[in-house]
Amino acid sequence: MKRPYITLKFAQTLDGRIAAGDGSSKWISGPESRKFTHKLRAENDAILVGVRTVLKDDPSLTVRLVRGKNPARIIIDRRLRIPLTARIIKDTSTAKTIIVTTPSSPGRKRKRLRNRGVEFIVLPASKGGNIDLRRIIRILYKKGIKRILVEGGSRVITSFLKAGLADRIVMILSPRILGKGIESVGDLGIRNIKGALRLRLKDIRRLGEDIIYIAYISR
Ligand SMILES: NC(=O)c1ccc[n+]([C@@H]2O[C@H](COP(=O)([O-])OP(=O)(O)OC[C@H]3O[C@@H](n4cnc5c(N)ncnc54)[C@H](OP(=O)(O)O)[C@@H]3O)[C@@H](O)[C@H]2O)c1
Repeated sequence: MKRPYITLKFAQTLDGRIAAGDGSSKWISGPESRKFTHKLRAENDAILVGVRTVLKDDPSLTVRLVRGKNPARIIIDRRLRIPLTARIIKDTSTAKTIIVTTPSSPGRKRKRLRNRGVEFIVLPASKGGNIDLRRIIRILYKKGIKRILVEGGSRVITSFLKAGLADRIVMILSPRILGKGIESVGDLGIRNIKGALRLRLKDIRRLGEDIIYIAYISR
């Protein structure tokens, strides 16, 4: 299948949390890593996140800390829970915003969002509630999106890994421990150590207090 190259990028604590129990995650990583993230964004055609990340963080998902083009912003949002006041809705002139939703999401809200410049990909969800990621990325590929940076949250990262659609992981490891919180990767259905996903280490770098860990996913 012709599909975009997919990088999963997330910042986690030493104990594998991308957010605290209340959903707060600003800022797990340090300023140097955040600049690195913006560079990574500029190298991709699109950034993809789940709607809960938008609800919790209200991110802009633009390139601001380095020079570079703004990638398109893609949000998976089955029921259109995204607020009209979200940053990625308010500034559609800075970067394109594409929402992936289902046919049953409210038509009126879709219209209001469309009036603000938002584009849509409408696909059915499975019985389990998921929209097939393969279908999403195939449509994006046809739109000219050849490189996607998946920036979270946990459910989205887990879905991409489970579907075998991730090519590379860029993990920012922060010298913090949270204990209970939101895990970077949820259940992948792996039941023993033999089943563990194997990565091929590409690079490790230190940026400020953080470690940047870059690895490819073996197939
Ligand atoms: N440290 C970091 O690098 C980092 C990065 C990003 C986010 N975060 C944190 O992560 C937390 C959010 O993570 P999360 O796991 O709760 O949520 P999430 O992954 O951001 O969003 C999950 C939601 O997206 C929709 N969705 C995702 N994949 C789908 C699919 N394949 N099919 C259908 N719907 C899909 C579903 O919502 P619907 O069912 O409503 O459509 C799902 O509940 C926040 O606390 C945020 O601060 C941390």
